[in-house]
Amino acid sequence: MCYCTNLSLRTSKWSYDLTMSTISRRAFLEMAVALGATAAWGQPFTTQSKISWKERRDLYPEGVASGDPDSNSVLLWTRRPPHDGSSVEKLTVEVAEDESFEHVVATAEAPISEASDWTCRVLAGGLKPARVYWYRFSDSKGYGSRVGRTITAPTDDDTRPVRFVFVSCQNANDGAQNAYRRMIFEDERAAEQDRLGFVLHLGDFIYEIVWYPEDRPQGMYDRRIRDIVRYEHGEKIRDFHIPTVVGDYRAIYRSYLHDPDLQDARARWPFVCMWDNHEFSWLGWQSLQKFEGTTRPAQTRKVAANQAFFEYQPARLFKPSGPSLEQFNPPHVDNAPVAHFDEHGLGQEPNNLAAIGSLRGYRALRWGRNVELIITDQRSYRSEEPTDRAETKAFSSDDFPGLLPQEVIEILDAGKTYDGGRPPAAIRYGAAEIPNFRKDQPAQTILGAEQKAWFLERLRTSKATWKIWGDTVATLDMRADPQNLPLGLTKTWPGAGYAGFDAGSGAGDHSTAYVERGEIYDFVRENGITGFATIAGDRHSFWAGLAAKALPPKNFEPVGIAFVTGSISAPGMVEALEHGFPKEHPHPLRSLFVGQGPADTRPQPTMNLLLHHGVKSCLEYAKSGDIDKARALSNPDLSPHVSFVDMGGHGYSVVHVTSEMFEAEFVCIPRPIERSERADGGPLRYRTRHRANLWRKGERPKLELQIVEGDARFSV
Ligand SMILES: [Fe+2]
Repeated sequence: MCYCTNLSLRTSKWSYDLTMSTISRRAFLEMAVALGATAAWGQPFTTQSKISWKERRDLYPEGVASGDPDSNSVLLWTRRPPHDGSSVEKLTVEVAEDESFEHVVATAEAPISEASDWTCRVLAGGLKPARVYWYRFSDSKGYGSRVGRTITAPTDDDTRPVRFVFVSCQNANDGAQNAYRRMIFEDERAAEQDRLGFVLHLGDFIYEIVWYPEDRPQGMYDRRIRDIVRYEHGEKIRDFHIPTVVGDYRAIYRSYLHDPDLQDARARWPFVCMWDNHEFSWLGWQSLQKFEGTTRPAQTRKVAANQAFFEYQPARLFKPSGPSLEQFNPPHVDNAPVAHFDEHGLGQEPNNLAAIGSLRGYRALRWGRNVELIITDQRSYRSEEPTDRAETKAFSSDDFPGLLPQEVIEILDAGKTYDGGRPPAAIRYGAAEIPNFRKDQPAQTILGAEQKAWFLERLRTSKATWKIWGDTVATLDMRADPQNLPLGLTKTWPGAGYAGFDAGSGAGDHSTAYVERGEIYDFVRENGITGFATIAGDRHSFWAGLAAKALPPKNFEPVGIAFVTGSISAPGMVEALEHGFPKEHPHPLRSLFVGQGPADTRPQPTMNLLLHHGVKSCLEYAKSGDIDKARALSNPDLSPHVSFVDMGGHGYSVVHVTSEMFEAEFVCIPRPIERSERADGGPLRYRTRHRANLWRKGERPKLELQIVEGDARFSV
C-alpha cells in the first residue's frame, strides 16, 4: 500500500519440497542444478580457512545475504562490482561453523559477471539442520566481504519451537529502518533458544516510486525526502519517478541495500522474500501498470522487475528461461495491449503471459514439525481490482471520505457470480441507481486459478502443526458503521449498512476479495484443517484477529487466526490523515479518523476506534477524551474478528510457535522519521502479544491479548 498523495482517505494508492533430514551429495547436486546455483557441499570434517582474508567492505558495497534455508542447505549472496576499472570473474565462498573460520565446512568458487549486475548466488548444502553457520566471500587476493551469519531449518520431524519475524514495507526514500536495529539489538541479547530463525519479508522491500528532493521540497507528510537514487532511464509522473528498465530496478535495490540497518539485518539472518506491488509497480497487476487512471501494458518492466528481484534476493524461485542462477536470461517481450481475459481475469496476451511467467515466486518452506510456510503471489495473476476502477467513484462521496458501502463492494467483487449468478443490473447508492459495470464479468481473484489450486493442495496435504499463509496483502476485514452516525451530524449515509474502504484506503486485498477468501476459508473448514494462520503486510498497520469469511449480520464463523504487521518505515494511514485533516479542517467526520479529546494537544488515531468499535466510540472520544467511556459504546457486531488494530504503527512482528500454541508479538516503534543513533534503534511505543492455543477440528480458534509494555490504548 502506498499513501502517497495529500488530503483525503482516498489518498491513492517451485514449490520445493527438498526438506528431508538427510540428503545425499548427489541429490543435493541435482537440486543445485535445478536451481542453477553454484554448489558448496559441506564436509563431515572441518578445516581451517586457507585464505589470507582481509575484510574490504568497500568492495562489496551491498553486503551479504542468505535466503530460503531448508534443513541442509541455504542460498548465499553477495555483489562485487568492478573497482577502479577492474572486475573479478569469480569469488570464493567459505561456510564455517564459527565466526573466525577455523572450522570451515564448505568452500566453492562462484562466477560473477556483468550479466547479473555482478551479483553472486551460491547454494551451500550438506549442512546440519537447525544450526548457525557463518559465511564470507573473497577474491583471489583475499579481499573479503563482511562475514554473514545464517541458520538452517530444523528437520521435518523436529518438534522444537520456531521463532521468526515477518516484516513489510520499508521506504528508504522517506523513512529510517530503525525497526531492523531494534530487531538485531533484541536478538543479540536473547537466549540461544529464543533467537530468530529467519526473517520473512512480505514485500515492498523497495518502493519503485521515488521522489527526488527537489521535486518535493515540502517532504512527504512528516518526512524529508532522501536523495537515494537517480534513475538513468526513469519516467517522471507528476512529481515522482519510476524505473523503466532493468538497470533502474537494479539501482533501486542497490540504494536500499546501502542502508546500514537493513544491510546488517540481511547479514544476521536468512531472509525469505516475496514481492508485493512496489517491487514492480504501485498500482500494477499482472504485467500492467496504472498511472493517472490509465492502465497501460508494461511487459518489459514486469520482466525487468522480476530480473532485479532474482538478482538481488537469494530465493528458490522457478524461472522457465532455464536453471541458471548465474543469469536470469530474460524472455523477450513487447509492450502489447492486453485486451482478452479468460474466466479468471488472466490476460491472454502472449507477452503478458511470458512476462508474469518469467519468475514464479509462490513456494512452500518447512521449519520442523510445527511450521509450514506457504507463500503466495498476490500481484502477478490477479484480476483487475474492481474498486480501483473509474466507475466505482460513483459510489463514493467526500461527505464520507474513503468509505464505500459494503454491499457495493460485495456486488463488484462477485461480478456475474453474485447472488447465485443473478447480479443486479443496477446498484443503489442513496437515491441513485448506478449501472452494475461488473455484472457480466468473472468474480475477482487475487491468486489466479493455477496458484490457488496449488495453494489449496498445499493446505490440504500439509503435515505441519501450523499452516502459515504468508500472504503479502491483508485478509482481515476493515469496516466501519456510518449507518450509526447520529442524525444531523452530516448527510445520510447512502449505503444499506456497513462500509468498507475504497482502493486507496484499504480495499484491494483479501479482505474485500470476498468470493475468493470465502472459497479458501470454506476449504479450510470442510477439510478439517486446524492450525491455520495468515500473516500479511501491505496495510502499514498492526492487526490481530480471527480469519472468517463473513461478519454480522451474516454468520461469523472463524476458521483460523490472522495478523498484519506494521510497516518497517513507510508512512501509514494515520500519518496521511493527520496531514489530510489538520485540526482546523471543517470536515464533520474528522473525529472518526484523527479525533482529539478536549485536553489533547495533538490528534489521536481514532481511526483505530472507528475500525474496531465504531462511530459512536469515536464521537464519544472527541467529546470527553475518555477512552474507557468511548470503548464502552463499542458496536459488538462491527468487528468481532478484530482484537487489536493500529493504523499508525511501525515495526515488526515476531511469531513464536510450539506444538501447542501460536503467538504473534507486535514490536511497535515511534514513527521512523530519522535514523536512531542508539544501539537499540530507539525507544518502543508498545509491545503486545497475541496468543492462540491450537484448536481441534470443529473448535473455534481464540486469541488472547497481552500488553507487555507501552501505550496501546487506542488499539484494543
Ligand atoms: Fe507498502
